[in-house]
Amino acid sequence: MTILVGVVSQKGGVGKSTIARLIAREYAAARWDVKIADLDISQTTSTDWKKRRDQNSLQPEIAVEPFRTVSQALKHADVYDLMVLDGAPHSMQGTLEIARATHLLILPTGLSLDDLKPSILLAHELVATIPEDKISFTLCRVGDRENEIEEARSYIHKAGYSTIAGSIPERTAYRRASDKGHAISEVSFPTLRQRAEEVAQNIIDKLSKQEA
Ligand SMILES: Nc1ncnc2c1ncn2[C@@H]1O[C@H](COP(=O)(O)OP(=O)(O)OP(=O)(O)O)[C@@H](O)[C@H]1O
Ligand SMILES: [Mg+2]
Repeated sequence: MTILVGVVSQKGGVGKSTIARLIAREYAAARWDVKIADLDISQTTSTDWKKRRDQNSLQPEIAVEPFRTVSQALKHADVYDLMVLDGAPHSMQGTLEIARATHLLILPTGLSLDDLKPSILLAHELVATIPEDKISFTLCRVGDRENEIEEARSYIHKAGYSTIAGSIPERTAYRRASDKGHAISEVSFPTLRQRAEEVAQNIIDKLSKQEA
């Protein structure tokens, strides 16, 4: 069976592709056959990242392919152990299709109300179609204030949704790593690597519970 994980948000630039690549990298490092389905064909962010990864001969190998629709991506899923669906922003139809198809849906979000409110609204729309325990928020591009992080987490919990433990800070080093084709768990700074690995591990744990 192919495990399917979706990474979606209606907002642009929250960290969908970054988290999709992190998940894919961590499974690939554990010798799973992994593919990222890049559903953002107007930007092809993850597809371009894969080209940089190959140019720099980075291991492990992660397959990335752009797909116009979720159903096309699913036709190619069988041969992989895991497919990560990297969603496009501003695409309710595509987001709904990803939500229905996947075992776990990750919603990356920033900490401001400007980010949180539309993210919660999206989750509310999705639970009309999928069970709420399939949804988990991931706090991305966070600052250094622990109380801000915890307030955002409790805002999400009060709205009825779970969050992945840990958070991804906004850091130049992550950007630079992505520019070279690395996943954010492949940065050279140990503390930043650990934070990315912690989030990835918690997503992996959540996914294994989801399957059980
Ligand atoms: N934690 C971070 N620290 C620094 N830069 C980040 C971080 N996360 C993402 N970025 C950068 O922010 C930009 C947007 O990130 P990303 O492409 O992952 O978001 P997205 O939600 O997939 O965007 P889109 O909606 O356009 O598909 C990219 O340039 C990325 O390198
Ligand atoms: Mg993206």
